[in-house]
Amino acid sequence: MRLDRKVALVTGGGSGIGEGAAKAFARAGAAVAVVDLRPGPAESVARAIRDEGGTAEAFVADVSKEDQIGTAIHRAAERFDGLHIVFANAGINGMQTPIEEMTLDEWHQTIETNLTGTFLTVKHAIPHLRAAGGGSIVITASVNGNVLFSLPGYACYSTSKAGQVAFAKMAAAELARWGIRVNAILPGGVSTNIGERTYRRNVEKVTYDIRMPRPWPPLTGRPATPDEVAELVLFLASDASRNITGGEFLIDAGLSLLRG
Ligand SMILES: NC(=O)c1ccc[n+]([C@@H]2O[C@H](COP(=O)([O-])OP(=O)(O)OC[C@H]3O[C@@H](n4cnc5c(N)ncnc54)[C@H](O)[C@@H]3O)[C@@H](O)[C@H]2O)c1
Repeated sequence: MRLDRKVALVTGGGSGIGEGAAKAFARAGAAVAVVDLRPGPAESVARAIRDEGGTAEAFVADVSKEDQIGTAIHRAAERFDGLHIVFANAGINGMQTPIEEMTLDEWHQTIETNLTGTFLTVKHAIPHLRAAGGGSIVITASVNGNVLFSLPGYACYSTSKAGQVAFAKMAAAELARWGIRVNAILPGGVSTNIGERTYRRNVEKVTYDIRMPRPWPPLTGRPATPDEVAELVLFLASDASRNITGGEFLIDAGLSLLRG
């Protein structure tokens, strides 16, 4: 799973799963463009990679703004002389609330970050991946919206995550002709800072009377670490997965096997 002489771009690279993947890519030999909305975290991850002897640079962009993410991808490809791996990972939980109380602005915020941001990241990466003769795109979706529908108030988030998987499969079929692979990962719970971008309003009005089995998830009884998720992302980014495209990969320690 080496990535020597490869250039990788990670959105949401300033924290959590993106940070873990950026560091894993760098340790595997890739030059890494760390893209995030927040300059401080992006720069600190890039600096940590450089301090370890790796190659990385921070790029600030909101993935939901076409000019910003398009420019960041273009600049990263120029800076590192190409692009081979794209991890479209930036995302938010957004507002967790009953559907009838969700404002259109709240709906747009989550859909535009998670789903439109994925589309824009992939769209602007394609010319560079084609120029490189192929590449690998990995998209962070979720168990929510794909195999689990039990988190109250997450209708918008789950819709965005289901949309990402459909988009990944359509893109995998369309881009195969250029040797570009596209896969989606479906994490269960992961210990990250996503709670800082999670808001709740009146969600108790729509909660269910269900009890999850213990331990949950059954394999570990704890959330995954970003580094554990990063190993799956590294596999999908690397040539070790060269025959795999259009796949959706659960990484949830068996969480979705048992329903409350
Ligand atoms: N943490 C979990 O349990 C979990 C489970 C399943 C899926 N996911 C998904 O994993 C992905 C990463 O989340 P995380 O848990 O690492 O969260 P995190 O909040 O720790 O990291 C996400 C990063 O994305 C950045 N970001 C947010 N909006 C952005 C935007 N518009 N443009 C650019 N960057 C932006 C944030 O600044 C942050 O640094 C998300 O897509 C999330 O939906 C997380």
